[in-house]
Amino acid sequence: MNTGLNSQLSTEDVVRTFVEYFEERGHRRITGSTLLPPPGDPVLFTTSGMHPLTPYLEGRPHPLGRRLVNVQRCLRTTDLEEVGDSTHLTVFEMLGTWSLGDYEGQQSLHWGYDLLTDGFGIDPRLLHVTVFGGDDQVGPDTASLELWQDRGVPVELTVEDNWWPNGSTGPCGPDSEIFLWTGDTPPESTPTGDDRWVEIWNHVMMRHRRLVDGTLVPLPQRNIDTGLGLERLSSLLQGRTSVFECDLFAPWRSLVPGLWQLDQPSLRLVCDHLRSAMVVIGDGVRPANTGRGYVLRRLVRRVLTVLWRDAPSRQLTDLPVELVRHTSGHFRQDVDPHDVRRVLIEEERRFRLLLDRGRQVLARPRFQGPLDEGDFHYLHDTHGLPRDLVLTLRQG
Ligand code: SER
Repeated sequence: MNTGLNSQLSTEDVVRTFVEYFEERGHRRITGSTLLPPPGDPVLFTTSGMHPLTPYLEGRPHPLGRRLVNVQRCLRTTDLEEVGDSTHLTVFEMLGTWSLGDYEGQQSLHWGYDLLTDGFGIDPRLLHVTVFGGDDQVGPDTASLELWQDRGVPVELTVEDNWWPNGSTGPCGPDSEIFLWTGDTPPESTPTGDDRWVEIWNHVMMRHRRLVDGTLVPLPQRNIDTGLGLERLSSLLQGRTSVFECDLFAPWRSLVPGLWQLDQPSLRLVCDHLRSAMVVIGDGVRPANTGRGYVLRRLVRRVLTVLWRDAPSRQLTDLPVELVRHTSGHFRQDVDPHDVRRVLIEEERRFRLLLDRGRQVLARPRFQGPLDEGDFHYLHDTHGLPRDLVLTLRQG
């Protein structure tokens, strides 16, 4: 992978450059929230920077005005299966900007292009964008198309890929995504045709609301919502081949391989999930069999499943507290790293007990053949064995 970049910018520098650029253009910095959405919100975790701003996108005046910028930590369980590749993390940070009924999309895209090329030094010839091509409800996004054509950036028109919803109902709109070429050859093909085009910045023209029956109505104001994955941008600017190679993962890269010998995808999964689990715990979540606690439990169990595949004696008590301290420090969490580590170790102990019990139960004659729904319910309700664990144990 060759982005032609080898910037000395640290991730902290990237944040500072980004925030200052938008502050100079009238944006006020808002403090990012934790991973936990406000009470009453149906989703388990904050999944994007706009998420905590939903009431303001729907028209409530924001106390800091109409132009905002922030860094928001997010957790996406939809990407769980993709972790281990070079661009996805479970917990990541999103740099974001908003126009709450103020400037329009062309202005946002102009600033985006200017900051990437002039501010961060990206060669404009390595950029490609996508733009909403229109469907039977909303016309093509000609304003964005014109802006990009004017800048000489190649455009691909799509429909579903350029529509951003925050769930099945609520604020949504067409978006324009900016991609950076990461191949070793000169750029070729288009973002949907070649995954060496990596998405770096999404600008959403958030001016519609989707109702429960699927129809679209205009929001009270025309907003812009942009989001840019920090670790991804940072690693690309640092000329790195994956998010795990940016400066934020330096302590992980130096400490984890010495503890456990793992192949690359497993090492990435272990680092990502442990780091994500630490952040989730630092935001107050504890392992449980439902909701947020179950997401945390799954993260820890996935780590242990990978670790124990080759060596069942591996244990989280070997995890250096430094890694917890580094993580909670970066996310500015006011927690005692020893407490976070203790939660992980206690969860490991419970999982070992559960596995032992699970193996004994599944050895019974009743469970030797194919399992039906009744069996899965019984194993879950009576023995606390979730379906995914039963399936794993039967494979093993
Ligand atoms: N909401 C958009 C996204 O998450 C842009 O912030 O990609």
